[in-house]
Amino acid sequence: MLTDNFQRKFRYLRLSITDVCNFKCEYCLPDGYQCDSDRDFLTLDEIRRLVAGFAATGVSKIRLTGGEPALRKDLPEIIRAVKQTPGIETVALTTNGYNLTKKIEQWADAGLDALNVSIDSLRPEVFQQITGFDKLNEIFRGLEMAEELGIKTIKVNSVLLKGFNHNQLAEFMAWVKNRKVTMRFIELMQTGDNQEYFAKRHVSGDGIKQTLLQQGWIEKIKHKNAGPAQEFSHSDYQGNIGLIMPYSKDFCDSCNRLRISALGKLHLCLFAEQGYSVREWLQSDEQLDELVAQLYRLLDDKTASHDLHNQNTGATTHLAMLGG
Ligand code: GTP
Ligand code: 5AD
Ligand code: SF4
Repeated sequence: MLTDNFQRKFRYLRLSITDVCNFKCEYCLPDGYQCDSDRDFLTLDEIRRLVAGFAATGVSKIRLTGGEPALRKDLPEIIRAVKQTPGIETVALTTNGYNLTKKIEQWADAGLDALNVSIDSLRPEVFQQITGFDKLNEIFRGLEMAEELGIKTIKVNSVLLKGFNHNQLAEFMAWVKNRKVTMRFIELMQTGDNQEYFAKRHVSGDGIKQTLLQQGWIEKIKHKNAGPAQEFSHSDYQGNIGLIMPYSKDFCDSCNRLRISALGKLHLCLFAEQGYSVREWLQSDEQLDELVAQLYRLLDDKTASHDLHNQNTGATTHLAMLGG
C-alpha cells in the first residue's frame, strides 16, 4: 500500500478530469477559467490505466473532480470504467451541480456511489451572486433525484465566506434536519489569484464549531484512514454538519489522498505547485508495473504539511486546476 514517510496511507485518489469550469465562483474563478484552446486532458484509456495502477497499490476510492467534471461528455464512460476496475470500491464525484438533474440518472447507472455538490448559500439570490448562476432550486431537485436513485453518500460543500454565509448556521441546520446529507463548511483557502478576496472574506470555522458543540452536536469519531474533515451529528437531525479547516493545527496529519491533475501530473498535496507527470506510463496496458513502481517512488517526496500557514510562500496553485 502507498504509505509515506509519516506513516500516512493513501487509499484515496482525487482525479481531475478537466480544469475547465462553467461557473464563475467569486473565490475561485471570478472571470471564468481561461484555458488554452484545446487542452490535452487525460483520455478515457489513460484514465483506465491510471486507475488500474493506483488500484494495484491498494487505492480503493476514486473521486472525480474538475474544474467541472460534468463538462466532459464522456463522464458516464469514465465513471463506468473506474467502477469496473478490480479493487475500486467507491467512485465519487465533486460537481457544481450545473447539470445534475439532466445527468444524475446516467451517472448512477454507470455506478456512481457518492456525490459532493457545492452550494455556498441556501438563498437563490446569494447563490447567484457567488456563482454567477441562478441554479439553486434546480440543484436542490437534482439532490433529491440522487437520493431517490440510491446514491449512498451525498455531501454539500459551502465555502465559508464572511458576509455571505458565516452567520447563517441556523439556516443550514434547519436544512439538514430532515435530509440525510452531510453539509460541510470549508474555510476559504488562499490561492495565487484570490489574495484580496481572501483578506476580505476569510473567516475561521472555529465559531461554527463552538456553536455546534453548545447546541448539543457531537463530533463523530473518525474511522481509520478518514480524511481531514471533522463531522458532527445530533440526535434531532437526520443530516450531519462538517467542517474542513485547513488552517487548523494538525489538519494534514490525517491526509489520506493523492491527486492527479487533468494533464496527468501527480500532486502530492492540493497546494503542491510541483506536479510529476506520470502520463508517459499510461500509454499501454503493459506499462502497469512501471507505473506502480513510479507511484511508490514519487510518494517519497510528500511533505508533512501544506505551506498555507506561511503567508509568504503559501499556495500559488490554482485550485480549479487540481479539483479543489
Ligand atoms: P470526501 O471526504 O470523500 O467527501 O472528499 P472531500 O471532502 O475531500 O471532497 P470534496 O471534493 O468535496 O472537497 C471538499 C473540500 O476539501 C474542497 O474545498 C477541497 O479543496 C478540500 N480539500 C480536499 N482535499 C484537500 C486536501 O488535501 N487539503 C486541503 N487543504 N483541502 C482539501
Ligand atoms: N477555498 C476553499 N474551497 C474552495 N473550493 C474552490 N476554491 C476554494 C477555495 N479557494 C471548493 C469548491 C468545491 C470544492 C471542490 O472546493 O467550492 O466545493
Ligand atoms: Fe467552478 Fe468549482 Fe471554481 Fe466554482 S469553485 S468556479 S464550481 S471550479
